[in-house]
Amino acid sequence: MNLHAASPADIEKRINGILSQMTLEEKLGQMSQLDSIPSPISAQLREEIRRGRYGSILNAGSATDRAEAQRIATKDSRLGIPLLLGRDVIHGYRTIMPVPLAESASWDPELIRGAARVAAQEAAADGINWTFAPMLDITRDPRWGRIVETLGEDPYLTSALGAAMVRGFQGDDPAAPDSLAACAKHYVGYGAVEGGRDYNATWIPEILLHNLYLPPFLAAREAGVQTFMSAFTTLNGIPASGDEFILRQILRKEWGFDGLVVSDWGSIVEMIPHGYASDAADAAFKGIRGGVDMEMATTSYYDHGKALVERGKLDIRTIDEAVRNILRVKFRLGLFDERFARRANASTGAPTNKALNIASELATESIVLLKNERTTLPLSLSIGKLAVIGPFGDSAADQMGPWVMDGDASAVRTPLIALRERLGKDRVLFAPGLRNARDISHDGFAAALDAARAADAVLLFLGEEAAYSGEARSLANLDLPGAQEALIAEIAKLGKPTTAIIFAGRPLTFHNAAAHADAVLYAWYPGAMGGPAITSLLFGDAVPSAKLTITFPRTVGQIPIYYSHLNTGRPPLNAEGAGPVGTAEHPEGYTSRYIDIKNTPEYPFGFGLSYTHFEYSNLRLSIDRLRSGEKLTVSADVANTGKYDGDEIVQLYTRQLVASVARPVRELKGFRRVHLKAGEHQTVAFTLSADDLAFWNEHNERTTEPGTFHVWIAPDSASGLQGQFELAK
Ligand code: GLC
Repeated sequence: MNLHAASPADIEKRINGILSQMTLEEKLGQMSQLDSIPSPISAQLREEIRRGRYGSILNAGSATDRAEAQRIATKDSRLGIPLLLGRDVIHGYRTIMPVPLAESASWDPELIRGAARVAAQEAAADGINWTFAPMLDITRDPRWGRIVETLGEDPYLTSALGAAMVRGFQGDDPAAPDSLAACAKHYVGYGAVEGGRDYNATWIPEILLHNLYLPPFLAAREAGVQTFMSAFTTLNGIPASGDEFILRQILRKEWGFDGLVVSDWGSIVEMIPHGYASDAADAAFKGIRGGVDMEMATTSYYDHGKALVERGKLDIRTIDEAVRNILRVKFRLGLFDERFARRANASTGAPTNKALNIASELATESIVLLKNERTTLPLSLSIGKLAVIGPFGDSAADQMGPWVMDGDASAVRTPLIALRERLGKDRVLFAPGLRNARDISHDGFAAALDAARAADAVLLFLGEEAAYSGEARSLANLDLPGAQEALIAEIAKLGKPTTAIIFAGRPLTFHNAAAHADAVLYAWYPGAMGGPAITSLLFGDAVPSAKLTITFPRTVGQIPIYYSHLNTGRPPLNAEGAGPVGTAEHPEGYTSRYIDIKNTPEYPFGFGLSYTHFEYSNLRLSIDRLRSGEKLTVSADVANTGKYDGDEIVQLYTRQLVASVARPVRELKGFRRVHLKAGEHQTVAFTLSADDLAFWNEHNERTTEPGTFHVWIAPDSASGLQGQFELAK
């Protein structure tokens, strides 16, 4: 329901009315985004805003600065065009939620929407009206630090969760005072950077662009996202920020997107070092021609746009179209109406209980149980003493993770704080053991071992620092940094029940550490309420339900490794098998595998344990031949055969055995969270149509082809009940 919407026709009329009055300088001003506001606002900047030098400002200093900038723009300027005030509200604003890769492990679109809604309310109250989220890049490369901002490796799941974020940020009505314009970024293919090295080249055949990287952006478009952000990277040699094919042909012509496209920080002028533009004027020309409406942070549009038009290099109609897109978003956000004034004046206090509860619930649903031997977990509350060891047991900054622009660190409750609240200070010993995650010194080991000896169970908090995750944080080595492996090896010698809790923004490789631990929880960066969430999982108040949305490699040498791979002409006969070195003549040697390690992941996509057990049985298909226009119902019984009530994320996969192009061995086509009490069982059913089985072929057409399909209802991408059906013409 759109509370304040002016009709599209009314908006277009108002746009044309304003556009007809604008000078070329004012048009180029709308196409320019200033990178920050010095606080307090300088006299020069006041004058610039007054004369319409900028259409948007990001990273403005404070709510007061934002309100003043907006006042000048709307009251003192000639045409009164309001500013878009942007900010990276990536996983929470004041209340920091788990990082997006963690959120995705909840497979819970509704909860993720709710978390984005809270973030929008907090940010809008501070005068912000545009966030640069959701990040919808697909990646299969944990070396790339920005994997932390993704929603995992799968396009179907990323589409569902990304669309939920868009709905959360924009609300039912983008013009409501507590809504933000969302931004689908980084369009497109950024996650395919060569070598996992940030900002590097991407080479993506169009067929893969359509089947893997574009779907989440189309889903965001269909969810009504108001803005897109172009990527830094080259796509097949063309910088995404100057690429007419993706920005005009696909986004505008095929998808009918009519919001605005903003460049990523400096990506317009970076076309010069890319070797695609000769100078800033050429970069501005190629950015505007390419289809980027607004230039973030740099000033080539404003500096050179006028001359480009006057020299006839750029048609004024191209400029007008860009300005229309920008004004259209401002109208849709209600910024031209008096109501927006409330946004800048409200003050954002400390996180509310509602926000903290959502943060806690989402963290609880995001933390993945990877190992639990001898039912180490859940712990009993009557346990004597606990030893909290490791640098992440009490680190607010690491718990919040990267991309925390405005988080309220005082609201963060660490595991140490939460555990001591639960058991009392005397029963929870703490010894970091290491000064930080990179510490190679063993000086702190003695105190850590003393704490472990004095305790009845050990909680070892390991991982990678938040400062090593995110943008420009590519790693060539995914092992636990510093002396962490040595620390857990020493702790393990004591024979105490030991749980490793890992903080990280990506899959790390920690095979030995996991072997030393009796139980492993992957907590990612769980946000402000990570401590209470971990505590409630440790004592069984909550039962783990999270499942991985990214494949965990055994070693960095396996990358890229992901579940929806092609079968190849020589699939490993025994993927688990690791032949001894020098077995080139071994039949296994002539298949697509490494001969020095097992060829399966450490943990597969979709994997996650519970304290209870779920058994799948009785797979049934409603028909064995699916025709166009029909629906196939695939169902199975899922029983909770353990002693705890719990949630199970049931997954649906298909495989087309033969097609005009080789197709992946599995593709996610559905998921469902079911809650089952101990002893309860439920039939879980999914429906499939021919269109659900469509793919893009080598002619870059979206098509379905008749043939035989396998179908699974499964707990993860490596197991499950398998059936078969035919797709008829
Ligand atoms: C950064 C990031 C982008 C972010 C923008 C504004 O460089 O690439 O994701 O939204 O600049 O901070």
